[in-house]
Amino acid sequence: MATAPTILVFDSGLGGITVHREIARLRPDTRLVYAADDDAFPYGRFTEDELAARVIAVMSDLIGRHRPDLVVVACNTASTLVLSDLRARFSVPFVGTVPAIKPACAASRSKLVSVLGTEATVTREYTKALIRDFGGGCAVTLVGSSRLAPLAEAHMRGEPMDDAEIAREIAPCFVERNGARTDIVALACTHYPLLLAHLERLSPWHVTFVDPAPAIARRAVELLGPAQEAEIDGRALSPAFLHFTSGRQPSPSLTAAISAVIKTRTT
Ligand code: DGL
Repeated sequence: MATAPTILVFDSGLGGITVHREIARLRPDTRLVYAADDDAFPYGRFTEDELAARVIAVMSDLIGRHRPDLVVVACNTASTLVLSDLRARFSVPFVGTVPAIKPACAASRSKLVSVLGTEATVTREYTKALIRDFGGGCAVTLVGSSRLAPLAEAHMRGEPMDDAEIAREIAPCFVERNGARTDIVALACTHYPLLLAHLERLSPWHVTFVDPAPAIARRAVELLGPAQEAEIDGRALSPAFLHFTSGRQPSPSLTAAISAVIKTRTT
């Protein structure tokens, strides 16, 4: 049997596990390494030049250590800035995570769509170009949040959530205009699906939150090619390897919370 391919899933923190779980679902036979640049979390606080240099340096180290066959940058804040630099610099293929503006706009009936991301992601030229190219006649409201990603991390650590704070962060996504209301909110930060139950409960009216993770996983699998059935059966329980750039070991309860999201053991 051929050796299982290694996929490196990378984010500034724990948000990328929402992408990791979809890849694990489609290709449970792969060796998945989850790398969090927790030493630099959150990425929103860096200037573009600082962040580009940071991601390239960390990626160089991770590629050297784990020798991946494919890298998934499960972070909008990094992908919208450095994806093309990463592709130019390293020979391994990269799959990025960028705001799901095309599917969100295609699915909207009211033509009022919001994009909820980090402040850095929603102000990037990359995001504005996606709206120009794929907005499909929708009025797109860009909503930047500096709090939701840290809150998602706190949620993973089992800390209590402040509903009022979450409601305040998402409120600008809900727009009413000429009798129409926002019906789609694209989640443009991989941390936010970790708070999905809160987002749904605290929405002033029903909207569909678009999580780009399944589409990213499909793209990753397309690049890798399908697994043999026998390989899937034989390796379905392979544990995910966790790498934190701070060198800190996650607590047993955080490890359990991560395993519960990605549905496999971790080492
Ligand atoms: N999960 C990251 C993203 O998708 C960013 C969180 C952060 O570092 O601010 O944008």
